[in-house]
Amino acid sequence: MATERTLSIIKPDAVAKNAIGDIISRFEKAGLKVVAAKMLHLSEEKAGGFYAEHKERPFFKDLVGFMTSGPVVVQVLEGEDAIAKNRELMGATNPKEAAPGTIRADFAETIDANAVHGSDSPASAEREVAYFFSADEICPR
Ligand code: TYD
Ligand code: MG
Repeated sequence: MATERTLSIIKPDAVAKNAIGDIISRFEKAGLKVVAAKMLHLSEEKAGGFYAEHKERPFFKDLVGFMTSGPVVVQVLEGEDAIAKNRELMGATNPKEAAPGTIRADFAETIDANAVHGSDSPASAEREVAYFFSADEICPR
């Protein structure tokens, strides 16, 4: 297994619940390191561009509305097998189907406000990290 980087977003519902620390703590306890982080209130353009792959889906407009409804925390997580490990910690997209003890099972109720985002492949991780962070904002450690 290789050391990887992945993009994580703590979404507006989880920020509003004051769960930033609880969620980051799960990443750290699982051996993932935060190597970049910032809080942002996304514009429609920035959120829409991020989710461009879903542009034609029926939920796209609501997704952009939700992602711009309040601040988010974006982070780069680094570690062994970071992409799959983060997806495992997150749980299924629909919190009702998420395994017990996962972030979505514990912090989300609905598929459209599901607490966290995580890159789903090396190619999307590369694109998504670069979408939010310049090279000098990432601090390997
Ligand atoms: P997707 O990339 O399929 O899920 P994941 O976040 O697990 O990678 O979808 C992106 C987001 O779009 C998802 O987190 C929530 C929203 N979404 C809906 O609101 N309804 C849906 O039916 C789906 C599939 C996604
Ligand atoms: Mg996805």
